[in-house]
Amino acid sequence: MKGVVLAGGVGSRLSPLTRVTNKHLLPIFDKPMIYYPIQTLVDAGIRDILIVTGGRNAGDFLRLLANGKEFGLRYLNYAYQEGEGGIAEALALAEPFAEHDSVCVILGDNIIEGSIRKAVENFTEQGKGAKVLLKEVTDAERFGVAEIRGSNIVGIEEKPKHPKSNYAVTGIYLYDSSVFRKCRSLEPSARGELEITDVNNAYIREGTMTYEFLEGWWTDAGTFESLRRATNLVAGSAERSTQGD
Ligand code: DAU
Repeated sequence: MKGVVLAGGVGSRLSPLTRVTNKHLLPIFDKPMIYYPIQTLVDAGIRDILIVTGGRNAGDFLRLLANGKEFGLRYLNYAYQEGEGGIAEALALAEPFAEHDSVCVILGDNIIEGSIRKAVENFTEQGKGAKVLLKEVTDAERFGVAEIRGSNIVGIEEKPKHPKSNYAVTGIYLYDSSVFRKCRSLEPSARGELEITDVNNAYIREGTMTYEFLEGWWTDAGTFESLRRATNLVAGSAERSTQGD
């Protein structure tokens, strides 16, 4: 399995912080934001990683991360997204890198407390299709929201006004190699983006989508409120681990 970190987009919701740099280079406690999703992949045993970025500061990623030595990696791969046509557009750029392998995709602003190792193992056993990781939240209208019936996920709605559940679809996705075909067949949504939710719904229609709940806390960091929350959560975890909890 290969890993993909999606760190394109403009981060306009964080302006003026993002006027002269990329959102994923902003600090979360003592590290740049992008360190956390990379570490999540590495901790899950994934060593072949592609960073998809874009904008005017793409070169800074190379200066910051180089070959990934800080993460115990020998090399990192990079791809460039022109514009900000959506998460599925950014993911489509990973096709030559994936070389028909399955991929674990993580959004560059998603930060988690726990590990996804078990979910990755379970997906490897599953063999085909896709898996999403869900988290119960109190502000589901900010996210992709899963509708669950029994043990099945029957649909996902992107930022619904009236969410059918409190289960947010986190920005961590496991896909077989058919994901790139699915990305190619998408039409832009009302907000002009190729939506990852449409990719996920294609798997749901096919009957090959599974889900698991993520353990520990999870947050994105794309708004001032969530950026502050991310910093507080990471700092809290760091404090607990120095106190030996
Ligand atoms: O955080 C989880 C949520 O992420 C999911 O619940 C939603 O279903 C999913 O659509 C996404 O929603 P957001 O509105 O938070 O996505 P956002 O536009 O903030 O993009 C999240 C990350 O995706 C961003 O940090 C970098 C990457 N991205 C995004 C776009 C639009 C790209 O690499 N390229 C892009 O063009």
